[in-house]
Amino acid sequence: MAGSANLNVMMKTARKAGRALLKDFGEVEQLQVSAKGPGDFVSRADREAEKTIREALMEARPTYGFLGEEGSLIEGEDPTRRWIVDPLDGTTNFLHGLPHWAVSIALEHKGQVVAGVIYDPVKDEMFYAEKGEGAWMNESRLRVSGRRRMIECIFATGLPFGGRPDLPETITDLARLLPACAGVRRWGAAALDLAYVAAGRYEGFWERGLHAWDMAAGLVIVREAGGFVEPLVPGADILSSGGVICANEPMFEPFAKIIRRG
Ligand code: IPD
Repeated sequence: MAGSANLNVMMKTARKAGRALLKDFGEVEQLQVSAKGPGDFVSRADREAEKTIREALMEARPTYGFLGEEGSLIEGEDPTRRWIVDPLDGTTNFLHGLPHWAVSIALEHKGQVVAGVIYDPVKDEMFYAEKGEGAWMNESRLRVSGRRRMIECIFATGLPFGGRPDLPETITDLARLLPACAGVRRWGAAALDLAYVAAGRYEGFWERGLHAWDMAAGLVIVREAGGFVEPLVPGADILSSGGVICANEPMFEPFAKIIRRG
């Protein structure tokens, strides 16, 4: 797809940051045996990636605002447009040498995500979409899965770690969903979870406690691939509430019924 100028800036920037992160990823294994360990190195790589992205986007569109996971918050001269960026989604995977993480860049206009890019440098998979223009992975058009029998469907989620409060609810979700479906995955990068729903690799995804940067780009990619995305709590603001549920069209209702205890 020949995307807009904004989309091209987003993809070029994601590739640039992704290349640098990939180099850092190659070093993580060696750092695991060093005295200080890989933690500091990875947070530095994460912050560096955000700086690279912020500088490239601000240079291309100096009036837009910027919200990034690593703490950058810039109020733009144009209050209607802002970038929402996770420079490294799947940080824990990266830290452990697991090859499943991504750069995520979204463009919001008047409170709506209008373009999104999720780049997985390890697999060289670039997922992208613009409102009204369809969703793509590299050169291929994306379409959510066509499965319509729950027992054949795979879903993904995030498991609350390190004492996060929503563990009991997640356990209940799993107890209700697992007997009815073909499996649940926890791959550790919410942006890629959304991209994989768009690509039809699994039928649905839900998670609580996310941040805007974990899901912004994925929302438009899933919608443009024909999927349904909603806040986990109906009526809430999807980006600020932190809870998201999405699926292909035939599975959305039965899946949401299980997760929302409907
Ligand atoms: C995390 C990942 C993970 C999700 C966590 C997020 P980060 O993002 O998306 O899958 O379960 O809630 O915080 O910290 O790696 O950018």
